[in-house]
Amino acid sequence: MQTRDDMKALAEASPPRIRFGLSAKLLVLTVLFVMLAEVCIYVPSIANFRLTWLNNKLGAAYTAALVFEATPDVPDAVSRQVLDSIGARALAMKMGQQRRLLATAEPPGEVLQDVDTREMKPMRAIMEAFRTLLFAKDTDLLRAMGPAPMGGQFIEIVIPEGPLRSAMWLYSRNVMLLSIVISAISAALVYFALHYLFVRPLYRITGNMMKFRADPEDPTRILLPTRRLDEIGFVEHELAEMQRDLAATLQQKTRLATLGLAVSKINHDLRNLLASAQLFSDRLAGLPDPQVQRFAPKLMRALERAIAFCQSTLSYGRAQEPPPDRRAVALMELIEDVRETLGLQPDSRIGWITSIERGLIVEADHDQLLRVLLNLARNAMQALETRAPNDAARDQVRITGRREGAVVIIEVADTGPGFSDQARAHLFEAFQGTRPGGTGLGLVIAAELVRAHGGEISLVEGTIGAAFRLKIPDRPIPLHARRDERVRA
Ligand SMILES: Nc1ncnc2c1ncn2[C@@H]1O[C@H](COP(=O)(O)OP(=O)(O)OP(=O)(O)O)[C@@H](O)[C@H]1O
Ligand SMILES: [Mg+2]
Repeated sequence: MQTRDDMKALAEASPPRIRFGLSAKLLVLTVLFVMLAEVCIYVPSIANFRLTWLNNKLGAAYTAALVFEATPDVPDAVSRQVLDSIGARALAMKMGQQRRLLATAEPPGEVLQDVDTREMKPMRAIMEAFRTLLFAKDTDLLRAMGPAPMGGQFIEIVIPEGPLRSAMWLYSRNVMLLSIVISAISAALVYFALHYLFVRPLYRITGNMMKFRADPEDPTRILLPTRRLDEIGFVEHELAEMQRDLAATLQQKTRLATLGLAVSKINHDLRNLLASAQLFSDRLAGLPDPQVQRFAPKLMRALERAIAFCQSTLSYGRAQEPPPDRRAVALMELIEDVRETLGLQPDSRIGWITSIERGLIVEADHDQLLRVLLNLARNAMQALETRAPNDAARDQVRITGRREGAVVIIEVADTGPGFSDQARAHLFEAFQGTRPGGTGLGLVIAAELVRAHGGEISLVEGTIGAAFRLKIPDRPIPLHARRDERVRA
């Protein structure tokens, strides 16, 4: 277990070094996202770039075709120069049924690919762009077709793919560089924004939490909230409130613990003193004086009660109960033990009715369950005794037990006056009993023991007297039952 000093040392150490913090994660993510967005933009734009490039060539070819049409006898050298300026190997135009070669450079070579820029579907344009980019060779020839002048159907040029591919690679490189610059700038902006808006305040809050944890009773360690109105401001405000409440509660608890320690010391010595007083009164009871004979038993009883009071207060103040040592306990026998311990005679005016499922076995700590039932049954009997004597048919303590799946349910009920409003308001609170001569610990102890079994204790409403219901889960729930429960829920 960590001691308080260990915790203090741990918490006072500087906040932990975070290796790959939120800002860094967001930095990387922003770069990735921007790059991804750029890729999404790049794919159609490279296809578009290719078509635009070819359309430019076709535009130049259009002008050349106009010239070739207007001047029929263009010298070869000139037409070759025109073709060079376009970057094409041949230029042809289709008019009606006729396809006329307007200019050609020797040899045009074999054409591998046709591109009709007038009707190009987007997907096809993309696929062809990537084909050019990745697989085209410098010597591959491509035939591009575009609109023709002077009533022609179309013009076409034969053009090598090499320059097109180089232009596309250059374009891709530029897009890539631009993407890197954009993502770096946006990532840096996100990084700083996140760092100042989120990470730094978070670091401050974490540091404060660690400092506070080292000594939660010190009010100077409570966080001073900033004036922010956003979520961080809200967290700071709530944390400060929580720390304030916690510090106050802890201070109160510490004071109570000190007081409790003093009380148990006094109690301890008081119990010893009372024990000696009991010894003397025991001897006193042996005297033949009738007056003494009359008062000695009363004195004895008062002393016994006082000793029991000291004893139970002391045991409540001690450290926690040991965890339950679960064994198979026959509930019927256990309840018989309870009756005997309470000293209830068969001819008593209080009826003792048990209704336990035949052979009911509960997996629980025998002694702890006995103490729980003793406390409840004793309370029931004491409640019945407060009333004028009646017959056993009216004044009853009734104990029932049954199993519901993995849970054993035990009910202890009586036909007494029921809970007063004051007792009900402080149910399961220590030292809040209303019974004269009671310590006010019985129900608290019972509840603690039931909870240690993972169970529940509750007051059943709407009965004649008082009735408590205990639910003690003692078996693992089979998977199918759990599934059914979920379905029902
Ligand atoms: N069966 C009951 N019927 C009516 N009131 C009850 C019953 N059981 C408990 N109470 C009320 O609840 C209070 C708390 O009970 P609890 O057993 O905790 O303390 P206690 O009986 O006063 O003292 P002790 O510690 O000796 O048991 C009692 O003082 C009593 O007022
Ligand atoms: Mg009691």
